[in-house]
Amino acid sequence: MINRQTAGTIISVGGGKGGVGKSILSIALGTVLARGGSSVVLADLDLGAANLHTYLGIRGHTPGIADFILGKVPSLESILVETSVPNLGLISGAEFVPGATNPAHWMKLKLMRHLRSLPADYVIIDLGAGVQFNTLDFFGMSDHGIVITAPEPGAVMNAYSFIKGALYRKIQNIFKHHAEIAALIEAETRIGGSEKRFTLEWLSERLKSTSPDLLPLIDEIARSFTPALVINRAPEGQTHLLVKNLITLCSEKIGITLDHVGDLPDVREISNHLLNVPRFFDLSIGESYHAAAQGIVNRLIKGAAKDGGRKARIFDFSDEERDEIILLLDSLDERVFSKTSKKAWKLRMFFKPSEVVGYLISRGITHPLFYTSA
Ligand SMILES: Nc1ncnc2c1ncn2[C@@H]1O[C@H](COP(=O)(O)OP(=O)(O)OP(=O)(O)O)[C@@H](O)[C@H]1O
Ligand SMILES: [Mg+2]
Repeated sequence: MINRQTAGTIISVGGGKGGVGKSILSIALGTVLARGGSSVVLADLDLGAANLHTYLGIRGHTPGIADFILGKVPSLESILVETSVPNLGLISGAEFVPGATNPAHWMKLKLMRHLRSLPADYVIIDLGAGVQFNTLDFFGMSDHGIVITAPEPGAVMNAYSFIKGALYRKIQNIFKHHAEIAALIEAETRIGGSEKRFTLEWLSERLKSTSPDLLPLIDEIARSFTPALVINRAPEGQTHLLVKNLITLCSEKIGITLDHVGDLPDVREISNHLLNVPRFFDLSIGESYHAAAQGIVNRLIKGAAKDGGRKARIFDFSDEERDEIILLLDSLDERVFSKTSKKAWKLRMFFKPSEVVGYLISRGITHPLFYTSA
């Protein structure tokens, strides 16, 4: 039998600017999904400035993600705590531990792998403010990334930097094992000036002459990196000009399509309920926010179904297993790859391992790693 793990869908909420409403939206999405019958885990990856536990009304000491990063607990499941909402668990980020705020890349991958294998249909990641590599990487590794912003110039520009940064990190991570392209990307990003920045179009142009076989990979990255956009505290019934500009900017400057999945109303009373946000959603003043969050969930889930589950991961390999599959790719005769290239499939291992394995199986290549032992 194929190693088909029932991996949960990971949705992350980021936005660049501080205080734009990431944490409240994360809780709202979690509450809506849990009440709709899904099992959901909220993960506070605002490492160093976590507050989901407070917003969820959890008092006293909760074990946190730092315990996992520092190797004090073997699994995320052991630090999963219940919340007042049935079916909604929390992985808290509560404790500030200096050594745990900036995990190494392998640890980020491990964390994502463990999040994916939690017994949950959905894992919602609340990200911190800013464009730190950590934040951008967690965003890029998620199945759905939501960018939330206020319709204000500062917040919109921060959201743009966030999206651009997340795309850059995604590409950098995918190509880091390809010495030539990695160096090309590195050199380009060192060039100053806001116009002469790295874009997918630029990368495609460069690859046309050097590695044309990798061009479909770039197209795929552009197609699959479609952040969802949410406007918080939006004026009713109109798409703000700044929002339209952001969508145009992303499409024209970096080749990325934003999916505007909804707006959230300005409900000033939220600030009186920050010690128990789920209870706020049950009050009549919380109804409009809750309904808007429901609309966002519907749009995200429907969008994913329309994709034919394109973003769902079936295979989840550890770093060691991935390396082993890459070795296997290396050892194969070029003829196996017919008109495509071995190099492209190798890079794809860092992007879509399931497709590589699917391809190999379709070419008659089998390996114990692709199958469960049971
Ligand atoms: N839709 C809204 N209407 C009114 N106030 C809101 C709304 N959303 C958020 N707020 C207010 O904004 C503040 C910040 O919200 P939240 O903590 O969710 O932001 P954040 O982006 O997670 O912040 P940080 O970057 O610090 O993590 C809250 O105190 C809340 O009162
Ligand atoms: Mg927050």
